[in-house]
Amino acid sequence: MPGVRSPAPTDYSQEPSRHPCLKINSKEPFNAEPPRSALISSYVTPVEFFYKRNHGPIPIVDDIERYRVSIFGLVENPKELSMADIRKLPKYDVTATLQCAGNRRTAMSKVRTVKGVGWDVSAIGNAVWGGARLADVLELVGIPMLAITTPSGGKHVEFTSVDMCKEENGGPYKASIPLKQATSPEADVLLAYEMNGEPLNRDHGFPLRVVVPGIIGARSVKWLDSIVITAEECQGFFMQRDYKMFPPSVNWENISWPTRRPQMDFPVQVTVAGYAVSGGGRGIERVDISVDGGKTWVEASRYQKPDAPYTADDMCCDKWAWVLFKAEVDIPQDAEIVAKAVDIAANVQPEDVAVIWNLRGILNTSWHRVKVWVGQAKL
Ligand code: MTE
Repeated sequence: MPGVRSPAPTDYSQEPSRHPCLKINSKEPFNAEPPRSALISSYVTPVEFFYKRNHGPIPIVDDIERYRVSIFGLVENPKELSMADIRKLPKYDVTATLQCAGNRRTAMSKVRTVKGVGWDVSAIGNAVWGGARLADVLELVGIPMLAITTPSGGKHVEFTSVDMCKEENGGPYKASIPLKQATSPEADVLLAYEMNGEPLNRDHGFPLRVVVPGIIGARSVKWLDSIVITAEECQGFFMQRDYKMFPPSVNWENISWPTRRPQMDFPVQVTVAGYAVSGGGRGIERVDISVDGGKTWVEASRYQKPDAPYTADDMCCDKWAWVLFKAEVDIPQDAEIVAKAVDIAANVQPEDVAVIWNLRGILNTSWHRVKVWVGQAKL
């Protein structure tokens, strides 16, 4: 890619600087999450506290003027777009929560060990992403809004990066989404060049990344190199041999990757620290809090922006973003605090992590329990 390059897969000598309070789960590649308290102290997560999830060294932009995104494949009118071309399109600001499918993997490992970077509860963040809508970009190459297929049979939109990952044998990270989602203005899929009103930084995909709201973070490809319209979904490692959900009977001896589809959507999820989020843009209908391990419950209040009431499914609320919650409760001696969310489709979090255990350790949506040994406390 002219203007942007990736260091060799093992060269971590040119990494950006990061906030010292981040908890580093893997140094090379760099994977880190903020402390729980920093995470929920604001509705929009400051960039320095936003979790960082990488599979290789961070690419370097040498000359932004030479940077181009190529769009080709099963499309009538292939094109190369510069940053200036992308900035000419209408700019959208979409508030969306991004979450790694492996968030809370460490808790799943306590049931039975799973492979992968160990994450506590903070591989999640909420940002205002600014950029061009993918549906508008695809119109430039002749694909109309709400297209399900192109005349030459394209049904998927594959995003390829410039980073080099060992899982791809030194090749770039890639992922795809269905064309239907990519061309739907309502899906709010962005080619983002801003995060919280500032240019993206290197860790988060400078100069341009994809943001696919409402689904697992793995499909929001950073350091975008090309967009390819294909007949089949992406065959890359992270679509076909990772980020798939298996039943608990599957282990590393009997696993058959092709039997499961790539994970896209996120089910309902909450932590006691105070965030709730569901996949697919579904709002949070209710958050219940228990202080006795789930025997009795009280309802928490939910909010996004200060002074504006939150109503699930209301146009005024940010549908792709998390919902923070608050409840004042009396804590008895030896309390076990549990938080449980219900989304507008009536999805409820499962009680026990053991019933959703899977060998990749993804999608841990179970009740988050926190034991407290004090007399009184506030959540
Ligand atoms: N894109 C590239 N090019 N390389 C990556 O390693 N990681 C993916 C996704 N996009 C990744 C990528 C994963 S697994 C997640 S969860 C999100 O980026 C994390 O985005 P963030 O680091 O901006 O929080």
